[in-house]
Amino acid sequence: MHPHPPSNSPESPPPCGRAFSFGSIDDRLPMIYPLTPENIKKAAALLASGETLAFPTETVYGLGANAFNAEAVAKIFEIKGRPSFNPLIVHLYCETQLQEVIDLNASVAALELLDKIKIFWPGPLSLVLPKNPRIPAVVTAGLDTVAVRFPSHPGARALLEACKFPVAAPSANLSNRVSPTTAQHVLDELGDRVDFILDGGACQVGLESTVLSLVESPPRLLRPGAITLEDLTSHLGKIESGPAPHQQHTPQGLPSPGMLKRHYAPRTKIVLRGQIEPKDYPPKVGLISFGGTSADSNGFTIVTTISHHQDLDEVASKLFGAIHAMDNQNLDLIVVDTCAEKGLGLAIMDRLKRAAA
Ligand code: TXA
Ligand code: MG
Repeated sequence: MHPHPPSNSPESPPPCGRAFSFGSIDDRLPMIYPLTPENIKKAAALLASGETLAFPTETVYGLGANAFNAEAVAKIFEIKGRPSFNPLIVHLYCETQLQEVIDLNASVAALELLDKIKIFWPGPLSLVLPKNPRIPAVVTAGLDTVAVRFPSHPGARALLEACKFPVAAPSANLSNRVSPTTAQHVLDELGDRVDFILDGGACQVGLESTVLSLVESPPRLLRPGAITLEDLTSHLGKIESGPAPHQQHTPQGLPSPGMLKRHYAPRTKIVLRGQIEPKDYPPKVGLISFGGTSADSNGFTIVTTISHHQDLDEVASKLFGAIHAMDNQNLDLIVVDTCAEKGLGLAIMDRLKRAAA
């Protein structure tokens, strides 16, 4: 257990990197901070001073830094072991901030698309737009575009409002691993590298935001998410999916490097149900079930049912948590149910296929 600092403590926040000392050699206790107005103020002050910290959003937990501070953003890449060619998403509180982050003069076409699609803000939709020169190159991996979103999680919104500057944040996990959907997941994976984790409870959506590029015509879906392809099409018409043909081969050329095939991977080998014949299963196998197939769950060492009736909202919100939990069970294999690749099912299957790649 990690101590929660008293929410009404008159003490100033422990500077990031030095938590309360209990006299032991290892006095760097990573801290989970409950979402209180006081802790939000502390978090905003840490970000303003160039530190990084983890905070909740409705999708997954993010590892944030002041998007205008190149040195602070560079720390994110170091903490995650993230390749420098993979750009970050910039998080905003209000529409006025947009002009500080995107270039309003670069593309009339992109702004027209933005007008049609911003009804999904605040929410799990990141839009790729021409970048404002104020955003340092490290944030966008040198691209002339920037991904922006307005999270809807009240904790994220309160933090962003207190900061006043935009916050660059990838998911708060080691590069290529499963995204965290609770503060404890962040602590488990980054506890030795991050000292301040704002705890906003379990993430409601549970999958990373949809990433849509508005600098191409037609717009291109770079990462499916809870704002579905069907949602986007109904407002924008035709949408392309995946990397553009000329961008498919080099990592640097990928429109969204998060599309790299092996991503979201737990330590334990993971397969989709049906990929391996049950007779070929190793001794200790876990099943993550989406429900409705309980008759076939015999023969597994552990079964976690994350939805009883293939409710995809429920599956999305609990999937990463179930993978994290199974990954800690010393299993030889994790088998995961599948669903149809439409609506939210497209994003669920996208993450599962990458985890199993
Ligand atoms: O839900 C989310 O999006 C979470 C929370 C914390 O907001 N963040 C997140 O960040 O998932 P990250 O870094 O794990 O994924 C960002 C994705 C990557 O696939 C990245 O390549 C893509 O967005 N991306 C960012 N900027 C881009 C740009 N300018 N052009 C194309 N893709 C971009
Ligand atoms: Mg990520």
